[in-house]
Amino acid sequence: MPRNPSSLRSHFDTGPAYSKPAEANGQPHVYHFHLCWNGDRIGSFAAQGNELRWEGYSAKKYEKLFTQRPEDGMPYFLVNMHPDNKLFELLEQDDQVTYIAGGLRYLSNLVISRNAPFDQPVITDRLQTDFNRYIEGGTFKGTYTGPFPKDAEEDLQEGLKEYWRNRYVPRFSGAEVKLPATLHEFGVLQPAITTPFTHIIKFPTDSGKEGWGFNEWMCLELSEAAGLRTAAHALLPLGHGMPPALLVERFDIHHNPRSINPNWLLIQDFCTLAGMSPDDRGMGSMEQVAKTMRQYSTNPQADLEDLYRRTVLSVIINDGDMHRKNIAMLFEYNPEKEQYVNVRLSPAYDVTSEIWQYDHEQKQTLSIQGKTAGIKTKTLLAFGQNIGLAPERAQELLTGVCANVAARAVEIARNMPHEAVQHEACRFTADRIATTAVKNARTFGAPVPEWDNVEAPKATYKIIDGQKTFVVLKPPPPL
Ligand SMILES: Nc1ncnc2c1ncn2[C@@H]1O[C@H](COP(=O)(O)OP(=O)(O)O)[C@@H](O)[C@H]1O
Ligand SMILES: [Mg+2]
Repeated sequence: MPRNPSSLRSHFDTGPAYSKPAEANGQPHVYHFHLCWNGDRIGSFAAQGNELRWEGYSAKKYEKLFTQRPEDGMPYFLVNMHPDNKLFELLEQDDQVTYIAGGLRYLSNLVISRNAPFDQPVITDRLQTDFNRYIEGGTFKGTYTGPFPKDAEEDLQEGLKEYWRNRYVPRFSGAEVKLPATLHEFGVLQPAITTPFTHIIKFPTDSGKEGWGFNEWMCLELSEAAGLRTAAHALLPLGHGMPPALLVERFDIHHNPRSINPNWLLIQDFCTLAGMSPDDRGMGSMEQVAKTMRQYSTNPQADLEDLYRRTVLSVIINDGDMHRKNIAMLFEYNPEKEQYVNVRLSPAYDVTSEIWQYDHEQKQTLSIQGKTAGIKTKTLLAFGQNIGLAPERAQELLTGVCANVAARAVEIARNMPHEAVQHEACRFTADRIATTAVKNARTFGAPVPEWDNVEAPKATYKIIDGQKTFVVLKPPPPL
């Protein structure tokens, strides 16, 4: 049980909770579901135990819409809709069918339920206001009244359990502690339950991840410096002496006001697009990602350049987490023309830097020219040519991205947002990211600003309770 659930609960109105039906005759319960997209019924499926069975599309026009499982035509994003957060273990919704049955709203205005779309509390998720109006100096300046991690006293994840029991709460994947939220008109930010899911709050955690909200914020700034379209983002102050969280705006929904864009948006990641399970998110190469991207993109040349930028960014900031679920494409479907009118690499999201690693530990998840470590200038140039960039263009992009990212990293580290500079964990994060970016950019031959390196503290492993545990011998000194 959460230590102090009442303070958390006060942030969430109550709604329908899901409880797992008992097995009948030793057989798991059979569920029947409809899959809806923007209010249209796309198709139906049955689910029992650990099995989903596609029962067909509701109209011919939907048959070619999604990347599909070859055996039965089930949309692959549905095959891949799994709980991948230990929160769902706490909720006893850790098998796929119970996870789907316990939810209702998913990313990209997808709804799954027995009665969908008629039991949906929100018609469509749409942005409600202009995020930029509520950002100053990189920091959210609207009104946020919680929940705050300290509400859960010990463990936010445990405390959020009550919230996730609510069937109306939108579901999306990923390992970190996150909360779907609504940024309302006048800058009021609240958990999304029966209101449109417009923003994601990513909370910092402990064990060396206290600065993680700032880490991702800074890396998203560097993604912009690399010339990439990037999810709009801001630091979210949490008070109580805590380092800030990260607030990210969804890019897979449209803006509310009158000029309603008729197209429907769909995010599909590179597990789904390649017909691979999320368990294999770390498998394969960036060359394979590029190949898959070419099959779908309506502007392959521009997208290949962006994928190249994203790869170089990942290498120079030591993003060890660029796996197939952290890169995606955004599909824009016109329901009148009954076709996709625009399919592009999505804006960058979930970009981070492994600040605790030493230089020799730097490692990519997906391989580049067969390598995950020891990536050199010639590796990146060969990768560029391999995916179809002219040699001069690959060189130009490599130098440009390195120079811009290193310069911006130093600029941020020297002039941090007020909300971050107060926290030692954030200062250390900024210094480490700047150090990594400058060193790597220099190795790749780009001009870099003056910068005094800050190294990862000496560390060692101890065996505690039979576990290899990382112990920092010399924590970074306070400024
Ligand atoms: N700005 C965004 N707009 C739309 N979908 C997003 C956005 N950011 C993340 N997502 C989706 O949500 C998932 C989880 O978010 P992510 O930032 O990757 O969290 P985690 O750090 O837990 O992996 C992503 O894999 C992606 O599908
Ligand atoms: Mg992720």
